[in-house]
Amino acid sequence: MKNILIIGSVGQIGSELTMELRRKYGSEHVIAGFRKTQPSEELANSGPLERVDATDVERLNEVVKKYNIDTIYNLAALLSAVAEEKPQAAWNVGVNGVFNVLEVAREHNCAVFFPSSIGAFGPTTPLDNTPQDTIQRPNTMYGVTKVAGELLSDYYHKRFGVDTRGLRYPGIISSVTLPGGGTTDYAVEIFYEAIKHKKYTCPLKAGTFLDMMYMPDALDAAIDLMEADPSKFKHRNAFNVTAMSFDPEIIAAEIKKHIPEFELSYDNDPMKQAIAETWPNKMDDSCAREEWGWSPKYVLAEMTKDMLEKIAVKLNK
Ligand code: SER
Repeated sequence: MKNILIIGSVGQIGSELTMELRRKYGSEHVIAGFRKTQPSEELANSGPLERVDATDVERLNEVVKKYNIDTIYNLAALLSAVAEEKPQAAWNVGVNGVFNVLEVAREHNCAVFFPSSIGAFGPTTPLDNTPQDTIQRPNTMYGVTKVAGELLSDYYHKRFGVDTRGLRYPGIISSVTLPGGGTTDYAVEIFYEAIKHKKYTCPLKAGTFLDMMYMPDALDAAIDLMEADPSKFKHRNAFNVTAMSFDPEIIAAEIKKHIPEFELSYDNDPMKQAIAETWPNKMDDSCAREEWGWSPKYVLAEMTKDMLEKIAVKLNK
């Protein structure tokens, strides 16, 4: 039986992935690791909870031993815009933390999931149909840590045989936990503002295309990859995965189909804009499709409808 540790279980992806893994493998087998932010009641009451910080290798060791962990999902990270504000902290969690997790996995024979990102690409990357294997020279600290994480994960597999696997996630859209300080956050905020005020001021310019994905697909992608038969893998880490690509105008037009009065305006955030312009417009995810059967269920129309319904319920509107 799998015993899973989630590092970063209160974060944007972790909060939902932990619950999904508990449903799938049984609550007592899925340990929710958190650092500072208090877990929600749902998370706290549904299974084991441990204070664990990727930068504290001794504590990590203790928890892995205590629960006989065989799989670690390492979701601890600072998102791109916050990482630009706090580059030292971003390096510590995103590189030293990843190194610690891989070391503990090597010692205790654990599989490791590592979420990389569209942020692992940079201004010299081909931005249309961005290939799986291409130039990666990001100019953000977030991107630097993600490339380092991809390379370290590959290295630990090649050198020590650790079963490392990972994805390059696009912007993740969800109605549950808000992202904090990412460049793609606008694609979540727009839904809250559409429901609350029927208007939204976007920090990215019209024409800024980015890959996106709805959370249910993001959860399936992680779990399916960790369960996939590795005999078909040509890659292991950092699979490009995407579900849709849009700019602010396109998502606003989709929201207008449900809320005709909705109005979009712009107030550009130069830092986020500069970051977004170095990220792919649309990734090629054919390797993930071929090597382990990746296929998203939600495209723009279904995602928009579901987000608007769920957020209306959440906000009592
Ligand atoms: N959603 C992330 C960010 O914007 C990208 O991986 O930082």
